[in-house]
Amino acid sequence: MGANVAVEGVSRGYGAGASRVVALEDVSFTLAPGSFTALLGPSGCGKSTLLHLLGALDRPDAGRVLVAGRDLARFSPGEEDLYRRRTVATVFQFFNLLPTMNALENVRLPLLLDGASVAKADARAKEALLEVGLEGRERSFPYELSGGQMQRVAIARALSGSPELLLADEPTGNLDSKTGGQVLELVARLHRERGLTVVMATHAAEAAAVATSVLRLRDGRLEPRAS
Ligand SMILES: Nc1ncnc2c1ncn2[C@@H]1O[C@H](COP(=O)(O)OP(=O)(O)O)[C@@H](O)[C@H]1O
Ligand SMILES: [Mg+2]
Repeated sequence: MGANVAVEGVSRGYGAGASRVVALEDVSFTLAPGSFTALLGPSGCGKSTLLHLLGALDRPDAGRVLVAGRDLARFSPGEEDLYRRRTVATVFQFFNLLPTMNALENVRLPLLLDGASVAKADARAKEALLEVGLEGRERSFPYELSGGQMQRVAIARALSGSPELLLADEPTGNLDSKTGGQVLELVARLHRERGLTVVMATHAAEAAAVATSVLRLRDGRLEPRAS
């Protein structure tokens, strides 16, 4: 099931003095459990910064980020580790597969790191690869796969641990439009079937259209919601 998300008055900047860049400024919104939201805006508007905060990879300078009612900045190191392993999963523009591992090994790795047995991790990884349409490609290495197939492996890896929140950062940014469209359809189907909460950053309005709601960012600020 999906987690609810609350972002409350969040600001984040980089650097100091004249070279200070404000990446996010007083951003607030809430997301219902099981919602699919696109974060739409041009390069540099703060999308990745916001996803990093949602993934507990970074902390805001001001404001709070709550997932499933829990303030991410108040996690103990152990809780933060569990959050990253169990609650949240991320898909990236450049797939971030390990080149020396085949598809099955890439998908099962986080399960093994989370303490699953090899047999259980293999079974779940195979299921996840089947779910994204890659049955028969378990032994293929990333260099033997197309961009769309690599992104499917990355999606299978993200979903194999049954996260409550899926973050996707420009997941079609490195794919041609047809392949990108198929990946977006896959994300939309997995969202429907699994009911997890999805937040997808994109600079492309066509990609944002598959989401059920759109948040527009410009220069680190959220634009008022058009209803
Ligand atoms: N680690 C960093 N150090 C300095 N500036 C950064 C860093 N990360 C992002 N920025 C700046 O913050 C702003 C927002 O970046 P980012 O969140 O990556 O935007 P987007 O993902 O929408 O392209 C940009 O001006 C970017 O240059
Ligand atoms: Mg980005």
